[in-house]
Amino acid sequence: MGRSIVAFAAVLSLFSSFILAQNIPKCGPGSPCPASAPCCSQYGQCGVGAYCLGGCDPLFSHKLTSCVPAPVCSSADYQLNSLDNAAPINKYLGDASNTNWVYSGTPATYQGDSLLLTMAQDTVGTLIASTRYVWYGKISATLSTSQGAGVVTAFIMMSDVKDEIDFEFVGTDLEHAQSNFYSQGVTNYNNGANLSTSNTLENTHTYTIDWQPDQITWAIDGNVMRTVKRDSTWNATANRFDFPQTPSRIMLSLWPAGLPSNGAGTIAWGGGLVDWNSPLMQNGYYYARVHEVKVDCYDPPPGANINGRKSYIYTDAAGTNNTVQITDKLVTLASLQATGEDPGVDPDASQSSSASGTSTASSSASTSAEPESVPGMVGAGGMSEDTTSLAGGDSGAAPTGAAGGQAGSGQSGGNGGFSQGGSSQGANSGADVVKVEKLGGSVIAILIAIAAVMVL
Ligand SMILES: *[C@@H]1O[C@H](CO)[C@@H](O)[C@H](O)[C@H]1NC(C)=O
Ligand SMILES: *[C@@H]1O[C@H](CO)[C@@H](O)[C@H](O)[C@H]1NC(C)=O
Ligand SMILES: *[C@@H]1O[C@H](CO)[C@@H](O)[C@H](O)[C@H]1NC(C)=O
Repeated sequence: MGRSIVAFAAVLSLFSSFILAQNIPKCGPGSPCPASAPCCSQYGQCGVGAYCLGGCDPLFSHKLTSCVPAPVCSSADYQLNSLDNAAPINKYLGDASNTNWVYSGTPATYQGDSLLLTMAQDTVGTLIASTRYVWYGKISATLSTSQGAGVVTAFIMMSDVKDEIDFEFVGTDLEHAQSNFYSQGVTNYNNGANLSTSNTLENTHTYTIDWQPDQITWAIDGNVMRTVKRDSTWNATANRFDFPQTPSRIMLSLWPAGLPSNGAGTIAWGGGLVDWNSPLMQNGYYYARVHEVKVDCYDPPPGANINGRKSYIYTDAAGTNNTVQITDKLVTLASLQATGEDPGVDPDASQSSSASGTSTASSSASTSAEPESVPGMVGAGGMSEDTTSLAGGDSGAAPTGAAGGQAGSGQSGGNGGFSQGGSSQGANSGADVVKVEKLGGSVIAILIAIAAVMVL
């Protein structure tokens, strides 16, 4: 445990090396984003568009209003048997009314009753995240995990200020679920606990996070395995409870802890290096299978600052429970060049040229003067019928300067963006890790998506 943080850092450092190459501004404590690229992504990079949506960190953005208000919790039982209500991260502009999930990587529908989170060779796997947030609730995911050295399946809750509640599954230990939590991304190696269960690959279990203002419980198939009370998390130094307390998205992911470019600790935690020629892979990829996600929203906590019913915003950079306000503000961006401060920006509507043109492909080809509009890279080779949307739409269109720009052009366009990235960034990875740990993030799984540097 706690490894997730390192993993996060490692993947981030990999990602950072790409970013550095493009001079994308970084953000974190003491260095908020500039007005020109106002939104601080969950990966600590500044941009516009999707940077201002899910995961946008208001504390390190240009203003608290740079990030788009977070759609409120809505109780639901999502049968994940299609991608009908899901959108790739570079196609989503913030309207959660008809899009329940955004994804990076390559999810694939399976047998009409479930979704596979796939991880093909040299990709960083797949991440799906809810478009709505939960501010206390009971969240269950029914799934079977992946397997194999270095292969991690995750079901987590994460807030924009990096409060986090986790279930993680390491592919070499199918008899345990690892539970963990973080507060504002601060690393604490004592927060983890292993929960025993029966083979997580062969058995489809229901994993439940019951998140209340004064306690969290982790349950498997209805049996509570662990309880953490808020009172036990008092941090006298910080004068606050290090307890997850801010609106959080639901995330499911499959990602590689076992990449040579990751830290030794991360690789060890993940059970070793990923074997990309493993008989455990099917159709060329590792996979985890998610059937259902159920959300029961709890009422806002007593004393909540309620000024509407549609979204959560932060009123102060403390990022604590009492700085969350429920409002009626809902914002859908006009384009991927828009931001929470300026949601109507749409280059296509006004002028036709400018580097942003289609706001997608061209931005990736443009220079670093253009702010990035999709955090992380989208894409990852395709397979299955769902690929059409990925390959057809995204690969080419991927606004992510990152994906198109780097992997493709910069690096002689081969496969294996990872190893290239890994080898070229060896020198600074240590520094980045330190920085992230200071930053505190255990954003874990997410990154995954990001680095989907994968080439197509
Ligand atoms: C949980 O088990 C893993 C091995 O799968 C081990 O590395 C880790 O230290 C354990 N965590 C705790 C808190 O016991
Ligand atoms: C208490 O909070 C401070 C400031 O966020 C942090 O550096 C420290 O690690 C926390 N202590 C523990 C035990 O988590
Ligand atoms: C915020 O948490 C504190 C404990 O740290 C609690 O006393 C207070 O009622 C909470 N407020 C809200 C709005 O949840």
